[in-house]
Amino acid sequence: MGTDVLTKGFLDIPIDLSLDLFREIDKLKKEKNAIILAHYYQDADIQDIADFIGDSLALSQQAAKTSADVILFAGVHFMAETAKILCPQKKVLLPDLNAGCSLADSCPADKFAEFKAKHPDHLVISYINCSADIKALTDIICTSSNAEQIVKSLPQDQKIIFAPDKNLGAYIKKKTGRDMLLWDGSCMVHEIFSLEKIIKLKHQHLNAKIIAHPECEPAVLDLADYIGSTSGLLNYVKKSDVKEFIVVTEPGILHQMNKANPEKLFLAAPPNNSCACNDCPHMKLNTLEKLYNCLKYEQPEITLSEELIQKSKKPILRMLELSAQFGL
Ligand code: 13P
Ligand code: SF4
Repeated sequence: MGTDVLTKGFLDIPIDLSLDLFREIDKLKKEKNAIILAHYYQDADIQDIADFIGDSLALSQQAAKTSADVILFAGVHFMAETAKILCPQKKVLLPDLNAGCSLADSCPADKFAEFKAKHPDHLVISYINCSADIKALTDIICTSSNAEQIVKSLPQDQKIIFAPDKNLGAYIKKKTGRDMLLWDGSCMVHEIFSLEKIIKLKHQHLNAKIIAHPECEPAVLDLADYIGSTSGLLNYVKKSDVKEFIVVTEPGILHQMNKANPEKLFLAAPPNNSCACNDCPHMKLNTLEKLYNCLKYEQPEITLSEELIQKSKKPILRMLELSAQFGL
């Protein structure tokens, strides 16, 4: 079994097809005092079985305060890693170790360390979508929910490096008027939305509001009526009187939008390829079957060295402190 995990990145153990996985996972959760944390980009069935669903900030806040012994993270690697950094004494599980993140991968630690060394007078703010090694090179972590406030809270003359997402960085530069040095990284999902197809969809739904995640490219963000993190987008559609929305982010978010607003229409923005939707291939590696095996056998588990935990924890705690001050 251990070899399976090492070679494939997940437990490829056949499951009895007659099992009710919802019930079995629930039973395992109780037996092991485990909690399932899921991101909004997970499949609907995984969101439905989770104890907590949220954006990256809410998920890290939840991980920091849970009293569970085991955290099963239904998300991607950097999210589970963040939970482990915050709770080193707990067992943190990720159903498939292959669930990475193109944005985190676009910022290798050795290259970033060289870049940082060239700008010793700059403070480093990194988006949470990065590896623990990058977090260890960072002064303050941020998410799309708090990046603007964190940047605004720094003295005007403070020089800043913002990594790894150039699109979120450019958006925050525009919002705050701060001249930040941006790392050239991006998300494979948010950078391939098609401007032309979004405009075409808008022509077919003239009353629809376009709402977008700040990881999208500037030309797409220029079209948007509202820009926000996944939880920001969810709150916006709940409060709005409008009945139709073109949603420019990973379509997993539509599950909660539809659940909370059954009378409204949510249209997933199309990418610039032949696919109809724009799923994150990393997020979608998690399945109910993998969750079940992962919880049952408590593998794959996230492990990090004590030194890396100590170094990468400081900038995350700084983010959590600042977010509490901002009332987030
Ligand atoms: P948020 O849910 O924090 O907005 O992040 C989006 C994302 O891309 C996560 O991978
Ligand atoms: Fe990474 Fe983009 Fe997938 Fe989020 S949606 S996990 S940023 S690749």
